[in-house]
Amino acid sequence: MTLGSSLVVSRSDLDHMVVRPSVLTDGSTPPTGSALLAIESFALSTHTVTTAASADSTGAWRHFPAPDGFGHIPTFGRARVARSGHPDLAEGLEVTGYLPMATHLLVTPERIDPRGFSDGAPHRRGSAAVHDRYLFRAVDPTSVASEDPGLEVALRPQFTMAFLIVAGLSARRMDEVAAVVVTSASCRTALGVAHLLGALDRPPAVIGVTRDDHVADTTSSGCYDRVLSYRDVASLPVGPTMVVDFSGDGAVAHDVHHHLGDSLLRSIVVGATHRNAAPVDTSALPGASRELFLAPEVAEDLRRRVDDTAIEAAFTDAWRSFLRRLHGWWEPREVVGPDAVVEAYLQAREGSVGVRELVVGSLR
Ligand SMILES: NC(=O)c1ccc[n+]([C@@H]2O[C@H](COP(=O)([O-])OP(=O)(O)OC[C@H]3O[C@@H](n4cnc5c(N)ncnc54)[C@H](OP(=O)(O)O)[C@@H]3O)[C@@H](O)[C@H]2O)c1
Repeated sequence: MTLGSSLVVSRSDLDHMVVRPSVLTDGSTPPTGSALLAIESFALSTHTVTTAASADSTGAWRHFPAPDGFGHIPTFGRARVARSGHPDLAEGLEVTGYLPMATHLLVTPERIDPRGFSDGAPHRRGSAAVHDRYLFRAVDPTSVASEDPGLEVALRPQFTMAFLIVAGLSARRMDEVAAVVVTSASCRTALGVAHLLGALDRPPAVIGVTRDDHVADTTSSGCYDRVLSYRDVASLPVGPTMVVDFSGDGAVAHDVHHHLGDSLLRSIVVGATHRNAAPVDTSALPGASRELFLAPEVAEDLRRRVDDTAIEAAFTDAWRSFLRRLHGWWEPREVVGPDAVVEAYLQAREGSVGVRELVVGSLR
């Protein structure tokens, strides 16, 4: 009897998603040493779209095998251990981690400890720990600090990235800058960066740049000192500045670099939200050269300087303060069932999801 289903996307046409039935049998115990996770919800955002767009080069299709020509997009979510064939993993435990857009996932738990477990399935060997680790929500400090599990699903990877970005910015030349300019300022990772920059001991001015119709909502978040439209880049104050670029849009980079020139001390590229932007040569722009943000390197550097317990405590505090600051500002939206999830995924691809909307999907 078919138990569940998953959504796979055509690797040659990322607009084309299909429902695939799962070949799992209800009621049976999973093979010895494995466990069946029932997936309760997963995030749908521009990060989902970027993950799919870069999956050929990052190897993201490897995490959850799919039929030839198709792929499961890994997305952060929440699940429950529905059935366990592993003596050390109790049924009913709630976990967070990277999941396919599916009703279920069969995992091979290993490295089980009081905080969580890793999936030791052969196809996940060689994955970064962050991608194959599942954390028990009941004891994970970030989950414990998250009253609303939907907000955790929709925001946690982005806020983790924001935390690392600010650690990376703070490690070099931060004391020299008067301002940090953030492009695609309306994306949730950027909002996290702006919030964290504002909480530094000596905060720089944080200026967001976004699309015309996103200026009002982005301003109302209160995370930025000032928010401009892409058309108004020429009004950015000229002085020692860093740029964090989430747009990946060469035209935006061109305008910012030409306007700030030599006063641009660092230019960091993190995202590629403007996926339809026309290509522009950014190899010889004025000001600092563009650096690709490498999260694993920054995380490693941070761990060399600060112990894990202190990092976790600082992250949990920062996460709490971010949730508090934007409490009531977000507009959570739950989309249930394959049709609604596909529609929301296509909206994320078009960039037509509202700035405040946090979309969480489920195939339950
Ligand atoms: N590597 C990692 O672990 C990691 C983790 C988190 C985020 N990121 C990256 O950071 C970026 C932001 O992710 P997010 O989840 O924070 O985004 P999000 O909140 O879903 O961002 C939505 C915003 O992105 C821009 N956008 C999205 N689609 C667009 C389109 N088709 N055309 C034009 N603009 C579009 C718009 O911003 P504007 O109007 O302001 O430009 C929109 O308001 C992504 O590239 C993501 O992959 C990476």
